[in-house]
Order: sequence, then C-alpha cells, then structure tokens
Amino acid sequence: MKILVTGGAGYIGSHTIIDILENTDHEVVSIDNFSNSDPNTFDRVEAITGKRVKNYNIDLTSYNSLKTEFFLKEGHIDGVIHFAALKAVGESVAKPVMYYQNNLNGLINLLKCAQKFDVDSFIFSSSCTVYGNAEHQPVTELTPTQIPESPYGYTKLVGEKILSDFAKTKKDFQALSLRYFNPVGAHISGLNGELPKGRPNNLVPVVTQFASGWINDLVVHGTDYETRDGTSIRDYIHVSDIAHAHVLALEFLNKSESETNYDVFNLGSGNGVTVLEVLHAFEKVSGRKLDYLLGPRREGDVEMIFADNSKATKGLKWDLQYGIEDAMASAWKWQQFLNKSKSGDKVRL
Ligand code: NAD
Ligand code: WQD
Repeated sequence: MKILVTGGAGYIGSHTIIDILENTDHEVVSIDNFSNSDPNTFDRVEAITGKRVKNYNIDLTSYNSLKTEFFLKEGHIDGVIHFAALKAVGESVAKPVMYYQNNLNGLINLLKCAQKFDVDSFIFSSSCTVYGNAEHQPVTELTPTQIPESPYGYTKLVGEKILSDFAKTKKDFQALSLRYFNPVGAHISGLNGELPKGRPNNLVPVVTQFASGWINDLVVHGTDYETRDGTSIRDYIHVSDIAHAHVLALEFLNKSESETNYDVFNLGSGNGVTVLEVLHAFEKVSGRKLDYLLGPRREGDVEMIFADNSKATKGLKWDLQYGIEDAMASAWKWQQFLNKSKSGDKVRL
C-alpha cells in the first residue's frame, strides 16, 4: 500500500514511519511544513531504517497545494495517517483561531482530497482530552466525551465528528480515530525522540531537559490531588507502542475488520501513574537525582485519567512492548544524543 503520513517529521509521525518501514512493505510519503519540527528528522529516520522518506513541504490548510503539488503528482494513495496538527494546549487558548484554522482546515482539505482521489483508509490522531474530567476511571471508548476546555482539545472532538460524518457518505471508506493518552519516550536506539520547539510543557521533556541543565526548574504541579501520593495521574504510553498501533490499525482497516466503517480506539497503557512515580522512574533508570520543587496545581489539569485499552489490545491485536521505565530510559538516551548533537542547539534555551 502507499501511505501518506501527514506530520511525518513530528514526534509520533516519525516513529510511526519508522515502524511502517521496519515492519511492512508499504511505501510511505510524508507531508510536513515543519511548523513544529525539523527536516533533519528524516536523516534520523534514515539512520535507523536505512530508508529515505520523501517529504512534501506543504501546508495542509492550502487545498490547492495539497491537490496540485501532492495528490496530482503522487498518484493513488491507499491510506492516510493524519498526525499533522498544532498541539500546545496553552498556546491554543491564546491563539484559538490559529488552532481552529490549522487543525480543522487541514483535516477538511485532506478529506476533500480523500473524496476526489478515492483514498480508502484514514486514521485520525485524536486525544484522551476528549474525555475531559471523566467521573469513572479507567475510561473506555463508551465513556461520554465532554466539550474540552481548550481550543486544541475542541479541534480533536470536532475532528472526530467531521471524520465520522464524512465516513457515512463515502463508499468503501474505512476510518478510525485513535485517542492517544500521554505518548512518551523515544526510539530504542536513542536516535529519534521528541524535540519540542522552545521550553517544553509536557512532563517527560521537562524532566530530561532539566536533568541536562537546559532548563532551570522542574516543578511538580499539584500535590493535593486525591491520589496515592497527592500528584496527578496520567496514562504514559511509549511512543513506539503508539507507532506500532498505527501499523496494526492499517491492517485492521485493510481487512475491513470493523463492523462499521468508522471506529474509535483508546491508545493507552492501561496504567495510571503519578507525577512522582514518573520522576522516580527517571531517577532509577538514569541514576540522576532530580532536585524538583513542589508547586500548586496547573490550571486546566484533570486529577486523573487513564485508559481501558482492551478494545485496542483485542481489536487491533495490539501487544504493548514497553513500560514507564523503558520510556524514561529511552527518553534519557535521546536527550543525551541531543546534548551531543547540533539539533540540541536549536532548542536549547
Ligand atoms: P508534533 O508537533 O511533533 O507533530 C506534528 C507535525 O505536524 C509537526 O511536524 C508539524 O510541523 C506538522 N504540521 C502541523 N500543522 C501542519 C500543517 N498545517 N501542514 C503540514 N504540516 C503540519 O506532534 P505529535 O506529538 O507528533 O502529535 C501528532 C498528533 O497526535 C497531533 O495531531 C496531536 O494533536 C496528536 N496527539 C498528540 C499527543 C501528544 O502528547 N504528543 C497526545 C494526543 C494526541
Ligand atoms: C502530565 C502531568 C502535569 C509538567 C497534555 C495535553 C493532552 C495530550 C497529552 C495532546 C500533569 C504534570 C507537567 C511539569 C508537572 N496532548 N507536570 N510538571 O497535561 O496530561 O496532557 O499532553 O492531545 O491533551 O493536555 O500532559 O505532560 O503536560 O502533564 O508536574 O513541568 O505532569 O500537571 O499532571 P497532560 P503533560
């Protein structure tokens, strides 16, 4: 199959490309405008897989560019994995129009092309943010969604709706929304990982950059939650496990295993882990002591969310390979690679 990966230079997209190249015969092409990534991601993918991926530097919000510079040139595309989106929750509150414009227009333009050029399979990157502050944990795919507080989260909820409505109208079309929990870690080689532009917000890059002296403080946001140690609980899932789920999802769609032509899966580890447990896992695998501070809750954070992943483990035949310590060890290996490499200079504050 010929697969278009949008956002192929990004964190999850690049790991998914690696998995596709290593485990399938599919041909992969990428579209990424590098708004949150760097072209040298493809050098790293090549170093790991020995294969060069062709990327089109196209902004998905331009329907004309997408049609003429990509679809008319590349010929038939069997499947699309649509990662490309802006993803910073806080930034989306400050710049809502930019988020709605980028994330929704990008999706809509892709679906217009899927219609016009007859793409059969479509996978959409959604998020556990659609569950909001769910009453019962773990959350299943039947847990009611809530209107997310942030414009970013809302683009995921609306994105799912747009895709499911579209799926009802196109014959022989198979689509999935995959709801990721907290993707963390790096490729096992330590040669590819998360490289956020500017100061990271997410816990794991904050930890590894703090341990390397790139940033000066590591604050635990909230110690008065009703959890086993007072800090909030999330479901951290290794990015390579997330990546592999996409390869299985392509197979699932290709075999038309779903009873309907649109479905939703949770991609989480099934384990709820506290912030302090993440920090201790890092200290254990790195041998470094983290001199962290205890601070107040972060606005907008939920106390606890973790996945019931049984639908994905059974339906997609998804076997998770990695735990939280593997994730922290690989993230640390990647950070050490960045410390030595020039890529690090671009993000060092
Ligand atoms: P990322 O920022 O690393 O990758 C996204 C890529 O898309 C970037 O390389 C960016 O340059 C590209 N892009 C963005 N807008 C584009 C546009 N208009 N045209 C072309 N390229 C564009 O993000 P990620 O962590 O790899 O996330 C991938 C997807 O998964 C996103 O849709 C995100 O919302 C979703 N998601 C991520 C997380 C997470 O914590 N990382 C959790 C849940 C869902
Ligand atoms: C994890 C925990 C923080 C940084 C976000 C998005 C969500 C999804 C995944 C895309 C929280 C705590 C963090 C720090 C800390 N993304 N923390 N100190 O907020 O669960 O989810 O990414 O869809 O939509 O909201 O992830 O990594 O920011 O935080 O104590 O310096 O770590 O309070 O409890 P979050 P995170």
